Amino acid sequence: MTTPKKLFIKTYGCQMNVYDSERMAEALGASGYVTTDTPETADMILLNTCHIREKAAEKVYSELGRLKGLKSANPDLKIGVAGCVAQAEGAEILRRQPLVDLVVGPQSYHRLPEMEARARSGEKALDTDFPEEDKFDRLGGRPKASRGPTAFLTVQEGCDKFCAFCVVPYTRGAEVSRPAARILDEARELVDRGVRELTLLGQNVNAYHGAGPDGTWGLARLIRELAKIDGLDRLRYTTSHPNDMEDDLIAAHGDCPELMPYLHLPVQSGSDRILKAMNRKHTAEQYLRLIERIRAARPDILLSGDFIVGFPGETDADFEDTLALVRAVGYGQCYSFKYSPRPGTPAAERDQVDEDVKSDRLARLQALLNAQQEEAQRAMVGRTVGVLFEKPGRMPGQVVGKSDHLQAVHVEAGTDWLGRIAPVEIIAAAPNSLAGRLAT
Ligand code: SAH
Ligand code: SF4
Ligand code: F3S
Repeated sequence: MTTPKKLFIKTYGCQMNVYDSERMAEALGASGYVTTDTPETADMILLNTCHIREKAAEKVYSELGRLKGLKSANPDLKIGVAGCVAQAEGAEILRRQPLVDLVVGPQSYHRLPEMEARARSGEKALDTDFPEEDKFDRLGGRPKASRGPTAFLTVQEGCDKFCAFCVVPYTRGAEVSRPAARILDEARELVDRGVRELTLLGQNVNAYHGAGPDGTWGLARLIRELAKIDGLDRLRYTTSHPNDMEDDLIAAHGDCPELMPYLHLPVQSGSDRILKAMNRKHTAEQYLRLIERIRAARPDILLSGDFIVGFPGETDADFEDTLALVRAVGYGQCYSFKYSPRPGTPAAERDQVDEDVKSDRLARLQALLNAQQEEAQRAMVGRTVGVLFEKPGRMPGQVVGKSDHLQAVHVEAGTDWLGRIAPVEIIAAAPNSLAGRLAT
């Protein structure tokens, strides 16, 4: 038997990259690779990259610089760049960093085994096509080991929305939904391997419109059918666009018990002027009305969002509108960023806001969001919520899991609880985690 080659993958960016990294490991499994956690022992290192902000993209080049030593210690080591930087920069990466052997865009992962063989024979391998065939169709296929109780499942990829700041429509391509039957099969297989919670992924997941056995299915129908799978107890989905929150999806939040009470629904800004300049195609008021309808369906839902400060043209008054929207919604947890001009996107060409102004606004917004998060965490104390235990805690005798509302919860309990869901009474709150006791 030949000894397997070792593959180390470092993943940046969004959850879809996490999912794709698993698929790449499976695809290269067919070429005799097993994964390793130590880059020093690897025969192949893949960086699965993110291009969303300048900082994210620059990280890739500094990481590649750090890999120089490993490559001189082991000349057989192959280094590959995958993900959205690979898609956006392509051959430029090979020029800028000669130690890279392989560059593969997100739509070409099914071609990795053949690319790896080319790299092994000493060629540079580059593939950033948007091929006709479905990459998921050709990935995987070998027997798979059991796994932890939570998993991601990509149901939709790409985006047609073209927000003026965003690279995703360029790096991930046009919006494509996977056929429902294939998603249901993958979900059943994951459940057989021990998964109890699935997070459905898509850059625009609630725009899902996949082929079903009786016509096109929307996300709500897909969720209702997935919920019927025995042993699949929890469903989540991310990331959604406000304009695609259809009535039946809102209704599912009220009547589908498997659909967890947490929703990431980015709005980016609270100013109508800026929303328009961002090409978001809705107003702040429409977003607030939508939140009201979602809360009417599921009153205890925990809301999350994304914000950009310092978008070109944002005035103090626009920024105050964002703070006002945040106050009106009351989020449980949010992500916020300084606007970062991305090459090739419309907003990159416009007059930019000063860096100091951006920093100041970000600090003010984050202070408000942090206060809301702490409030949401404190509000859990005394409540009993479902927790799916995922891993041992930092302290001996502790296990950690996620609440229905996606908050981390640690509990004094044995590791026999891992993979199980139990009611937990929350007894203490910290900004990023909760403590509880089993209420069974
Ligand atoms: N598909 C998701 C967003 C993907 S990007 C959606 O539509 O919501 C994740 C977040 O990064 C965005 O919601 C936005 O807040 C932020 N982001 C995207 N482009 C950015 C840029 N150029 N500068 C700063 N933040 C950006
Ligand atoms: Fe980017 Fe999301 Fe806008 Fe699509 S909807 S362009 S992924 S921010
Ligand atoms: Fe980043 Fe690409 Fe995801 S740019 S956020 S890795 S879709």
